[in-house]
Amino acid sequence: MIPFNEFVEENSFIVCAHRGASGIAPENTMAAVAMALECGAPMVEIDVQYTRDRKMVVFHDDSLERTTDGKGLIKDWTFEDLRKLDAGAWFSPSFVGQRIPALVDVLEELRGRAYVNIEIKPRAASEQAAAELAELIALVKGLEMFGKCVFSSFDHSALVYLRSVETEVRTIALNVPGDERSPVRVVRSCGADGFGCSIEELTKERSEACRHAGIPFGIYTVNTPQELEFVLDHGASGIVTNMPHIVIPHYRMIASTP
Ligand code: G3P
Ligand code: CA
Repeated sequence: MIPFNEFVEENSFIVCAHRGASGIAPENTMAAVAMALECGAPMVEIDVQYTRDRKMVVFHDDSLERTTDGKGLIKDWTFEDLRKLDAGAWFSPSFVGQRIPALVDVLEELRGRAYVNIEIKPRAASEQAAAELAELIALVKGLEMFGKCVFSSFDHSALVYLRSVETEVRTIALNVPGDERSPVRVVRSCGADGFGCSIEELTKERSEACRHAGIPFGIYTVNTPQELEFVLDHGASGIVTNMPHIVIPHYRMIASTP
């Protein structure tokens, strides 16, 4: 696998599986990651949260109820206790026994097989939060995956901090819903390499602004062939999808059509 910055130079578009292949497997589990790879996803997006004992885990919500049989906030649980929870049954009985994975295990699964989009969830600024971001960079570097990962967030101050830790980091500023600033201003305000917004926020003004400024932009969550064609018409650089098994074959068909 070539470094992600070289991939971007050589390819005009990338499909990223959202929380793994979360349309066909329970989000942010090893099963969802495995299915994203099976679908041929060149990039996988995951969300990072911290346990009470400061372990980095792959999980979306602050609270456990929606996707596990646990209750309360993930930050109040130890890693050992979280690992006892079922993170697959809510999705389908065939995924009973899926666990909340450690970030390191997900990264090791993806190493050499797909680029990783690590989303950092917004948190209040603190010395501890800063130390954990530095630890995240150290983990990725320790696995020799730094050039294969991008870091995205709605929390643009976290992206600024990441760059202060490591100038070579690649970051994507996710548009905070309701922020009507031009993508150029959003990206420049935090020194990000790219811009991301929802398909509902994708307007001609935003896509033209990105294209004219040469800013790569990705759109979430694009789940159907029609939505894919819509974002391609806008000149998007990538998409985040729950449905890589549908969207990737459709993209390949479009890309191979003269
Ligand atoms: O990649 C963008 C997307 O993941 C952000 O929203 O809520 O799915 O983490 P969310
Ligand atoms: Ca996410």
